[in-house]
Amino acid sequence: MKSAIYFSDSPDATYQLGKRLASQLEGSECIALVGDLGTGKTMLAKGICEGLGIKLDKISSPTFAIVNEYLGNCPVYHFDFYRITKINELYDIGIEEYLSRTAVKLIEWANLFPEVLPKDVITITFTEVHATERKIKVG
Ligand SMILES: Nc1ncnc2c1ncn2[C@@H]1O[C@H](COP(=O)(O)OP(=O)(O)OP(=O)(O)O)[C@@H](O)[C@H]1O
Ligand SMILES: [Mg+2]
Repeated sequence: MKSAIYFSDSPDATYQLGKRLASQLEGSECIALVGDLGTGKTMLAKGICEGLGIKLDKISSPTFAIVNEYLGNCPVYHFDFYRITKINELYDIGIEEYLSRTAVKLIEWANLFPEVLPKDVITITFTEVHATERKIKVG
């Protein structure tokens, strides 16, 4: 994915950005979605999923499941590390095996457990500029 800085002025603009970014993916990337609560990580992840051919009504935030698995044009694993308190919870679900598979891996709050991330992780950083404006930095 190309390094770039984007500005989004609405939830839908963030969603559409996700759809566009999906077209840059080859199908095996690990993407860390990093930013404060409510900055748009899930919104962008949903756009990426739709861009990868997954129907929107199947996509939810994996806050309670740790990972949601989807099959679009390629497999997609959507993780949320926010509620994880111990790294063993990640090892118990087989995080290393998940991250080694050929799939797009989207990880909200990946910064909480940087030690499990692959070296070639792509980081997308979200910052709230105003109530409805977000700065979204890729790479
Ligand atoms: N430009 C914008 N892009 C994305 N979301 C926006 C924007 N402006 C306002 N919002 C609002 O911010 C919230 C973003 O929610 P979202 O669940 O995507 O955040 P998140 O980063 O995943 O949060 P969490 O850390 O709780 O998982 C939504 O309520 C959305 O309506
Ligand atoms: Mg979220």
